[in-house]
Amino acid sequence: MSHPDEHTGTRRDFLYYATGGAGAVAAGAAVWPLVNQMNPSADVQALSSIRVDVSGVEPGTQITVKWLGKPVFIRHRTGEELQAQAEEDIDISSLPDPSARNINLSDPDAPATDANRTIASPEGEAEGAWMVQMGVCTHLGCVPLADAGEFGGWFCPCHGSHYDLSGRIRKGPAPENLPVPPARFEGTDLILG
Ligand code: FES
Repeated sequence: MSHPDEHTGTRRDFLYYATGGAGAVAAGAAVWPLVNQMNPSADVQALSSIRVDVSGVEPGTQITVKWLGKPVFIRHRTGEELQAQAEEDIDISSLPDPSARNINLSDPDAPATDANRTIASPEGEAEGAWMVQMGVCTHLGCVPLADAGEFGGWFCPCHGSHYDLSGRIRKGPAPENLPVPPARFEGTDLILG
């Protein structure tokens, strides 16, 4: 296992492997074999924190970084997206998965509202401006495509799962929303883990 010191600072550029919006993750059909280990134990997480400088991620784009060997989608939302999400009118209890699946909440299984699916914003930005979620389909582990699918969020091409702009499963065989990993801001750096 790598020494924890290796996970900060100098390796951040190395961790980027895709940028942009639609089609950012070209290997859409790639299977991530460790789908059942998306929620690693606390001791593993402590050894595996990474720092990502997201100051260059413009609103309306997302990047994908690798954390614990798996892709993590980091999306910076536009004002229009925020407005649309604020005005959404859906019955959370009727969703395929009504749980927020956000480990950063005091109750990770709180209702899957858009607000509960986002992470705390850095100073000076509107709440909900950043979505951070594992880029691993909860069906069988493929990597969903961004800006795709019937709900405008992510689409998994392997068996047709549609996730909405909050990363919630809305249609298809995937049983759960895309999980939100431990994430917080320090300045313009996002800390995962
Ligand atoms: S792996 Fe995504 S729909 Fe099957």
